[in-house]
Amino acid sequence: MTITFLDPHGKAIETKAKPGDNLLRVGQAAGLPLEGTCEGQMACSTCHVIVAAEWFDRLPHASEEEEDMLDFAAGARRTSRLSCQIELTAELDGLTVSVPKESNDLRRM
Ligand code: FES
Repeated sequence: MTITFLDPHGKAIETKAKPGDNLLRVGQAAGLPLEGTCEGQMACSTCHVIVAAEWFDRLPHASEEEEDMLDFAAGARRTSRLSCQIELTAELDGLTVSVPKESNDLRRM
């Protein structure tokens, strides 16, 4: 399956993934600036991505904890999600998400 990330400059980066992969890990493996400081514990929001509108409703809903963390995410929008909470399934082949401009990956500074 193919997952497309738009980097903070709007450049499309296509990645290959398989069902069961975690969206944060796929993005990191592709070199996107997704810090993921808390390793999926929903305590940081540095793995924040904005899901393309046409895909948003096809994802399983965010938990209340995730919604709460998203309130703190820089540049959050209506279709924001924490990528660490998204496990890929075959139905998500073609998913497109953007890494917000505000994302600041400390590993690259
Ligand atoms: Fe921290 Fe996703 S990695 S909330």
